[in-house]
Amino acid sequence: MGLGECLIGAAELRNVTQVVRNQTLFRYYGVGNAPYPNSFASRVERAGEAMHGVRYALGVSSGTGALEVALGALGVGPGDEVIIPVWSWVSCFSAVVRVGGQPVLAEVDETLNLDPNEIARLTTPRTRGVLVVHYQGVPADLAPILKLAKERGLWVLEDNAESLGSTYRGKPAGSYGDMAICSFQQRKVVTTGEGGMVLTQSAALYERAVRMSDLGLYRTEHQERAPRKEPMFPGSNFRMGEMAAAVALAQLARVGPMVAKVRGLRDVLRAEIGEIPGVTWRRIPDSKGDIGFESYLFMPTAQQAQAVRTRATERGVTLTPHTGTYAQTAREYVKNRSTHAGARGPFQHFEAWPAPGYRPEDFPRTHDLAERLIAIPIGVLFRKTEAAWIGRVLREEIRRELG
Ligand SMILES: Cc1ncc(COP(=O)(O)O)c(C=O)c1O
Repeated sequence: MGLGECLIGAAELRNVTQVVRNQTLFRYYGVGNAPYPNSFASRVERAGEAMHGVRYALGVSSGTGALEVALGALGVGPGDEVIIPVWSWVSCFSAVVRVGGQPVLAEVDETLNLDPNEIARLTTPRTRGVLVVHYQGVPADLAPILKLAKERGLWVLEDNAESLGSTYRGKPAGSYGDMAICSFQQRKVVTTGEGGMVLTQSAALYERAVRMSDLGLYRTEHQERAPRKEPMFPGSNFRMGEMAAAVALAQLARVGPMVAKVRGLRDVLRAEIGEIPGVTWRRIPDSKGDIGFESYLFMPTAQQAQAVRTRATERGVTLTPHTGTYAQTAREYVKNRSTHAGARGPFQHFEAWPAPGYRPEDFPRTHDLAERLIAIPIGVLFRKTEAAWIGRVLREEIRRELG
């Protein structure tokens, strides 16, 4: 289960009940009397800003929507390239395509996040920015990424869908890039079933994000936060509704204690497994800041990893990632270069397909890591004895495999 969904309870019920009593499910107006600054959506945005230490947060209807809103706000369009890690969720690729850009795939390193060196290798005159994904609770190594991007005039968009509540060098993930997104989908740290958030320090990007998410409009509520600077353009509708916002407000308040608890359980689990020669752990660029809800280690070979997974599953411990993430090169849309725009999609200028950069063999390191990884779950409702038991099963099966 996701972290947030385990804890849905009285606070969510209280907030949702209030929305129903108000008869105002839309954030901007309705029967009851709960518009700005008292709408739940506005209050969630203030909470998101406080939590991340950023000037502007915008609630939206999903993390995928948040990515499209942010990429649109950043001005991505036809002919633009955006670097994304090949090991990433569907939306990291699809959002770039949906705004007309071309995702350019990059290797991940032992952090399972973007290898910063890939920015130098992949930047072309058409590159506009870098989408950094903080995969499953661990922020990417942002310092070199931000430096390399800045040197090349690229923006950085942080995808913090899977790592809400994590920090990097003492500051929240999501507060470093030009923009960042969160997801409140069912399996996330905070859940509203469907929901998301866009973050930025820039008033100009905030205005553009609001317009992307609200039909190109820039209503008074937002103008009061950052003055209107540009004319309307055609936006979409990714607005956050009051029901989702009511749940999000209750959930956001729990992130700190939840992360502290999960990190404690992770420490118990790791201590139980201990150091085993030949086994390496996922590299965490800032070990003070990850969430700890899914620990990863790498076995020496793919066969050994598979054997450990199989035997641990037989003993009741499932060791596959909870994200459904795998290399983008294995997705049907990459194999076929298919897009909503058919023959006018961003990959049609390649004569042969799959072109270099979109073939599995172009990402040997990512594939090697993916085959050798073991994902160890930690739930927020686990007891210490359960974390220790999972660690013990792992230790026994790994030692058995490695002899
Ligand atoms: C890394 C990443 N980005 C984006 C998303 C999209 O979020 P959502 O499911 O809210 O659209 C997800 C989650 O599913 C994700 O894991």
